[in-house]
Amino acid sequence: MSGELYRLFYPRSIAVVGASRDPNKIGHILLRNIVSGGFKGKVYPVNPSTDTILGLEAFPSVSSINSEIDVVIVAVPAEKTIEVAEDAGKAGAEFLVVISSGFREVGRIDLEKKLVEVARKHGMRVLGPNIFGYLYAPSGLNATFGPREIKPGRIAFITQSGALGIALMGYSTVEEIGVSSVVSVGNKADIDDADLLEFFGDDPNTSTIILYIEGVEDGKKFLDIASTVSVRKPIIAIKAGRTDVGAKAAASHTGSLSGGPALWEGVLKQAGILQVKDVETAFDYARLFETYSVAAGPSILVITNGGGAGVQATDTLAENGVLLSEPPEEYVNYLRTFLPPYASTRNPVDITGGAPDEHYYLALRKALEIPGIHAVLVLYCQTMTTSPLKTGEAIVRAVEESGSNKPIVAGFIGGSEARKAIDYLIQRHIPAYPTPERAAQALAALYRYARLREAVKRRLDLLRLSGEIHSKIPGELRREILKK
Ligand code: ACO
Repeated sequence: MSGELYRLFYPRSIAVVGASRDPNKIGHILLRNIVSGGFKGKVYPVNPSTDTILGLEAFPSVSSINSEIDVVIVAVPAEKTIEVAEDAGKAGAEFLVVISSGFREVGRIDLEKKLVEVARKHGMRVLGPNIFGYLYAPSGLNATFGPREIKPGRIAFITQSGALGIALMGYSTVEEIGVSSVVSVGNKADIDDADLLEFFGDDPNTSTIILYIEGVEDGKKFLDIASTVSVRKPIIAIKAGRTDVGAKAAASHTGSLSGGPALWEGVLKQAGILQVKDVETAFDYARLFETYSVAAGPSILVITNGGGAGVQATDTLAENGVLLSEPPEEYVNYLRTFLPPYASTRNPVDITGGAPDEHYYLALRKALEIPGIHAVLVLYCQTMTTSPLKTGEAIVRAVEESGSNKPIVAGFIGGSEARKAIDYLIQRHIPAYPTPERAAQALAALYRYARLREAVKRRLDLLRLSGEIHSKIPGELRREILKK
């Protein structure tokens, strides 16, 4: 792997400027997170007031380290960042990661411009300012002042809100969702969402990208790069400022151009990006895409022990453009051999409230065998006559025995026992959710993504034919598009 941001994510050495002696200060926490996170490269604290921090030799400046430095993390007050940038540039650093607040977001556009100017003069790229840092699990690198523990995985999260990013690091751990990377972009003075999308688009350690976005400076660059990435891996966006009042709040948060909600909806759709309203839905989708990225065909079967849950799922699927069709006759005839006469064999298949786990097993096992059924949504409502965990085990048994790779999504509704069954299913790579609506919405995302991706592919083909690929698509992606 190569690319402009390669050394940001695979640094050989990092200097932390403002590595405080005070364990409660941001610079100290950053250093501690890097050291204890398993990063294998060299780490140099920079603080003129001391000789050692956390057992590491400290240096008065970056240039005094006298060794090659790839990334300089800057955690000193905003006014001091310019001299730090000059010094880091002279020392030959490639990247400045500027944690400090006090720039564009408080009206100091001049200071932000100056920072970028100095960085450019020395050939450095800037992440930030006004960020909580970044994390890249494959390098064991946690250069944030967020939580230390994260579950490594394949979701990259790019966020314009630092607080949300930190909160999500905790959320992903609690929800057992693995992340490859969390990047706080803050004011995006230089490195922006598009640059990062390009990196993660090529990153073999990342399969899904989540964006929290308030606004972008260069809409064309964003659209072009996102389009070339979304045809290869799903991008999910939480677009803040979906309403006019929200858009105003977003503009005052990081000072970026937000654009109207309708405009954004169009841009995201054109770029092949799945827009979601909230963080929970973003992670619901990401959990699904961790296991499945392609829907093999349009016929979804819903199996449920509760009629209401089935109706809710049907509505949610329909609202997301997925309509249920009647099950094949072969399947209906099979169900009739073991289901009670009052069960419904239409779609949703209602195997009734008292359905034992064996009925779940039989209904699912057969559905996975029949070619005319392409995906299955299994819903379970907890009752006193059935066991959530046993039902979960029956689902896993059916999937494992069939060897099928059809998408299976589960919705388990109930109390703590249902929650345990959800965890059990997730650990066995079956996306599972606590409501029928969330399960149905996640499964529908697979179809939404397929439709978006097809539309983007067609648009890219047209662009290729007319030779209009935008000149701002840099590096490998551009070459890749042009050669197809
Ligand atoms: N080079 C190296 N070290 C220096 C320099 C220098 N030029 N100048 C000062 N230092 C040292 C200081 O002596 C201090 O070390 P010490 O505590 O051992 O004496 C350390 O660097 C830090 O400097 P302070 O002046 O104490 O700064 P402080 O830690 O209070 O604040 C910070 C710095 C954190 C960057 C602050 O200015 C800031 O911007 N905070 C906001 C950060 C933020 O919220 N970012 C957005 C995150 S997103 C979110 O929502 C969470």
